[in-house]
Amino acid sequence: MSKGAIAVLTSGGDAPGMNAVVRAVVRTGINKGFDMLGVKRGYKGLLNKDFVEMDLRSVTNIISLGGTVLYTARSKEFMTLEGQQKAAKHCKEMGVMGVVVIGGDGSFMGARALSDQGVPCIGIPGTIDNDIACSEYTVGFDTAMNTAMEMVDKIRDTSQSHDRCSVVEVMGRRCGDIALQTGISCGATAILVPEVDFNIEDDVISRIVETKKLGKQHFIVVVAEGVGGSVDLAKYIEKRTGIESRATILGHVQRGGSPTVRDRVVASQMGYAAVQLLDEGKSKRVVAMKDGKIVDYDITEALNMKRVFDIDLYNVAKTISM
Ligand code: F6P
Repeated sequence: MSKGAIAVLTSGGDAPGMNAVVRAVVRTGINKGFDMLGVKRGYKGLLNKDFVEMDLRSVTNIISLGGTVLYTARSKEFMTLEGQQKAAKHCKEMGVMGVVVIGGDGSFMGARALSDQGVPCIGIPGTIDNDIACSEYTVGFDTAMNTAMEMVDKIRDTSQSHDRCSVVEVMGRRCGDIALQTGISCGATAILVPEVDFNIEDDVISRIVETKKLGKQHFIVVVAEGVGGSVDLAKYIEKRTGIESRATILGHVQRGGSPTVRDRVVASQMGYAAVQLLDEGKSKRVVAMKDGKIVDYDITEALNMKRVFDIDLYNVAKTISM
């Protein structure tokens, strides 16, 4: 006999590995005796009652797909109490006893609001930015970093041929993790992130001038989206140093592509854990990673946590990029 239905949705910006989470949620749910439903386009789908039945075969071969087969959207209506009540009503009409929400902090706020309307929800961190304070890892981060690294390697080929400086802007609105890890892996001369105060003269111009004296002839500067200004920075570097400079904004290329092994494995672990929590009768929890292990936190506690930037890694980058 069915234990009721579990619905799964993806919300906010998509991330590689979201499909791997959906697959894990659907298969774990079926294994535990639940009926499984997918919701199209996040919270908007709950409001439009856009549910699709999911069986074992409906998630075949999606583990390697980028994007989200359930689509994603942002919903203004769901931010209102009336919207949340309507979504909860639709869930109850569909026999939904729990919802798994894959997304970022905004999506978790939605999950908390829906839980408050009597529909137990569990959040899973899915965003390329790695900006969820409660979790040392978010699904999509590894794939995005690898894409950014590959792109910067290509930019370096042409930058080197012309003895230029390339300023590369990577995604990360509030979080410099993509910039930091990409910068280290590509030997960037300077890395600018929103978490660390910097001074263009000391942290960019002087570093370029000093490393040039040490024989370096081409330069990569990685800038996080949250810092921005990469086009102006390239112009300024050229003006101050005389080194021809170009800016590239990588943009949404970082959000696409087949997920890496790490993203597929973490997605599978987190999807499994979320269903396990619902099966244990839990609600308003976020699945997270701590010290490499899967854990879970109360959503409010998770949302109140402060992200800690890896300043040691930042200092490693500063020391070795000469
Ligand atoms: O949160 C992921 C992210 O890719 C950010 O790095 C970026 O600022 C934002 O989403 C872009 O969102 P959108 O695709 O809606 O413009």
